[in-house]
Amino acid sequence: MDNKETTTGNEPASMTLTNRQGHPISDNHNIRTVGNRGPSTLENYHYIEKISHFDRERVPERVVHARGAGAHGYFEAYGKVGDEPVSKYIRAKLFQEAGKRTPVFVRFSTVVHGTYSPETFRDPRGFATKFYTEDGNWDLVGNNLKIFFIRDPLKFPDMVHAFKPDPVTNLQNPERMFDFVSNSPEATHMITFVFSPWGIPANYRQMQGSGVNTYKWVNQDGEAVLVKYHWEPVKQGIKNLTQAEAEAIQAKNVNHATQDLYEAIERGDYPEWELCVQILSDDEHPELDFDPLDPTKLWDHEKFPFLKVGKMVLDRNPANYFAEVEQVAFGTGVLVDGLDFSDDKLLQGRTFSYSDTQRYRVGTNYLQLPINAPKSPVATNQRDGQMAYMVDQGARQNPHVNYEPSSLGGLQEAMPSGKEHQPMYHDKLVREKISRTNDFGQAGETYRKFEDWERDELIANLVDALKICAPVIQEKMISYFTQADADYGRRVKEGLAQAKVDQAHLGSAEEKAGAAIAAGAGQKTD
Ligand code: HEM
Repeated sequence: MDNKETTTGNEPASMTLTNRQGHPISDNHNIRTVGNRGPSTLENYHYIEKISHFDRERVPERVVHARGAGAHGYFEAYGKVGDEPVSKYIRAKLFQEAGKRTPVFVRFSTVVHGTYSPETFRDPRGFATKFYTEDGNWDLVGNNLKIFFIRDPLKFPDMVHAFKPDPVTNLQNPERMFDFVSNSPEATHMITFVFSPWGIPANYRQMQGSGVNTYKWVNQDGEAVLVKYHWEPVKQGIKNLTQAEAEAIQAKNVNHATQDLYEAIERGDYPEWELCVQILSDDEHPELDFDPLDPTKLWDHEKFPFLKVGKMVLDRNPANYFAEVEQVAFGTGVLVDGLDFSDDKLLQGRTFSYSDTQRYRVGTNYLQLPINAPKSPVATNQRDGQMAYMVDQGARQNPHVNYEPSSLGGLQEAMPSGKEHQPMYHDKLVREKISRTNDFGQAGETYRKFEDWERDELIANLVDALKICAPVIQEKMISYFTQADADYGRRVKEGLAQAKVDQAHLGSAEEKAGAAIAAGAGQKTD
């Protein structure tokens, strides 16, 4: 996609200013009035067109991940997965040949706050990649952290409400967040990451990415394996911030991550990530103390090594922020042949949500926009709708037959490119949690794996957020941290007790100061 394609696709032949009907504009400074003091007339076409377009400049921001930055680049396949030929596990064409390049667009984001919020917040970071493959688009919609807060998609809207500002005060409130979390023990592992320095990546270039959910790879024979995806910033390295470092940046710059990415690409210092996969056989793995489809869990990388499959380089900034970064639409349902869904419930719930919100946020025909359109042929019988500005190749080949099947022409189904993967199901329909929840085990392991300074930060940040929460919330959280690791629970408990003592001292100091002021004020008026 070149810049021209993404600006208007309808460039004027000269630099003469026109309106949107193509009429040259000779006065762009004065509306039409009766005499030079007005009143104005209603037929001011140029003014009314200009202001009414301006009135509609914003589309709804993303309900989550509203603030983002993006860049173009390419993915280069290694043709192997670790030391094995990649075709053993997957038939997707983009991975097969060593050196094969596929264009990509990546959008990084923060999650909870709005479009212009500071990029220093403690928050997961989004890492969404669109691969424009020869078989159509593949979106890998991930985060920087490798796990998530919840495992059932039914809880997502409540979780987001609790994390976003209070509906009355419009203030973000840790008590609302921890109220939800203290009633969702499966979030303990994610909270352990988010309140450590891993909750504030230094910028977008120096962070990892992960698909979080479990997907499947399918080979030519229709055989599947379970996979998790990871982006590793081998060239830049990983860098996180302490709370104090983040606050110092935020005092001076609320755009530091966007600026860092843009400037690095402008100066030719192109960021790179290696794409790695972890592979497990496609079964329930009863030998593990967790369910491999549970997105609140890590797959231990010592048991299930990271296998390299390719690298990504980001080497071009967007030509226009709105047309590309704002209007780009990623979704977990956007897979190519050879990639498949696992039964991970969160993944299945996500897959409905993305395209649904994009039909509302960007519009019915969001896939016609250059940033979202595949670079491979598109030939459907889907037509019309708001803002349809082109017909796809299906209609161009036979404009009369906009249906299938037909004996008169029109589009025909593709030949299958390999044997279909056909998993077998036999169970009751239920509403139940998974059996192996193990909500605290990995939170404890993660706590113990942190370095001392990371643990110190984690405890300080948790105490700072929890100290304003109701005692019932504090007690539940301490019980979760204790079940994860006795030392973890003890330190949060002691920290909260100390915070209470400090608060009491502060209170009495303030009372004394207040009394002194009152006494002073009293003297003055007397
Ligand atoms: C954005 C839903 C979980 C990563 C979004 C958006 C929605 C959504 C509605 C806005 C999309 C748009 O307006 O274009 C959900 C639901 C989830 C879920 C329902 C769980 C049930 C996750 C998880 C991850 C994730 C687990 C990480 C693996 C992202 C990213 C974006 C996003 C990176 C921003 C994409 C962009 O840059 O345009 N999500 N999400 N989400 N979500 Fe999720």
